[in-house]
Amino acid sequence: MISIAHPLLGSEEATAVMGVLASGQLAQGEQVAEFERRFAEMCGVSEAVAVSSGTAALYLALLAHTIGPGDEVITTAFSFVATANVILQVGATPVFVDIDPETYNIDPVLVEAAITPRTRAIMPVHLYGNPCDMKRLAEIARIHNLVLLEDACQAHAAQIDEQVVGSFGTGCFSFYPTKNMTTGEGGIVTTNQPAIAERIRLLRNHGQKVRYVHTSSGYNMRMTNLQAAIGLVQLEKLARFNEQRIENAQFLTKHLKEVLQTPVSHPGYRHVYHQYTIRVLEHRDQWAARLHERGVGTGVHYPIPIYQQPYYQEIRAQFRVSSPEGKAETGADAPCLPETELAAKQVLSLPVHPALSKDDLSTIVREVLTLCGN
Ligand SMILES: Cc1ncc(COP(=O)(O)O)c(C=O)c1O
Repeated sequence: MISIAHPLLGSEEATAVMGVLASGQLAQGEQVAEFERRFAEMCGVSEAVAVSSGTAALYLALLAHTIGPGDEVITTAFSFVATANVILQVGATPVFVDIDPETYNIDPVLVEAAITPRTRAIMPVHLYGNPCDMKRLAEIARIHNLVLLEDACQAHAAQIDEQVVGSFGTGCFSFYPTKNMTTGEGGIVTTNQPAIAERIRLLRNHGQKVRYVHTSSGYNMRMTNLQAAIGLVQLEKLARFNEQRIENAQFLTKHLKEVLQTPVSHPGYRHVYHQYTIRVLEHRDQWAARLHERGVGTGVHYPIPIYQQPYYQEIRAQFRVSSPEGKAETGADAPCLPETELAAKQVLSLPVHPALSKDDLSTIVREVLTLCGN
């Protein structure tokens, strides 16, 4: 079976982990600090704060920006559920707007139309590793004095005109094993605002800067030295991993673009292909089953818009969906985002990870073309 994801870990990671084990310094320490320095450098920002997951990164970033009850955060419903869960968890209101049907990313025109006096932040998601239109979103955030919080959990080292995502606003990354680089579990926040970084450092560690002196409330959302040691090695490999993902994507697109909607990457944008996602206009789930039978693993990212998730159906008064016309409606009115709902029915991700062989790529192309009747 050609798997949809395959973390690439080798002897370098093993040696790094063994070094930490031998040192006895397993929890947050030197390796974490070094990982933060190197990750900040890669993103071109002054600060990075490592945490226990991408979800923790998003949650603590919202808290650090003092977003909470009474505030609205504009985001996408076409994402992993963590994007919206953290907004609810800080007591704020997610406001979902529709996506661009070509890139599947949040549509800046609809973002602007959804702004109300309660809006505090915009949370774009660089879905599948493809950057959102950050120049327009940054401009909207500047004009309306909003926090720009990038969910870059799928977009390590993606760029627009050589500016790395996570540096347009406050950036949040995940190091879950399927991601372009991993630490097992883990996350990081990137920012150019020292005060935000400082608040997150406190929040991740029970409000403690000096041992047993607690100046704020907080959590244990620390990264361990074991994770950071893996992360330091993976960060060294990230450029090569991304090159390989891009090369694999180019091969798939070359062979599939005549028969299917293949991923779009705008000029000047560096899409790092966390996922390679096609559109199957009809019978998507049958396609997935057939490909599975033929040895090709696939994924659906994501089959249910967040506002249609069973849990969100139960808490309809706690979020809003902003219709494409810009008319904000309450969740209770069962609103819909047409592009989001269509994408949820049609998207199918094919393997694109750097562990694929040339034979694997040829097999994927052959099996997809067969399904297209070629
Ligand atoms: C877009 C997006 N946001 C947030 C997350 C949460 O990251 P984690 O799984 O590390 O908590 C993920 C990862 O799955 C993600 O893909």
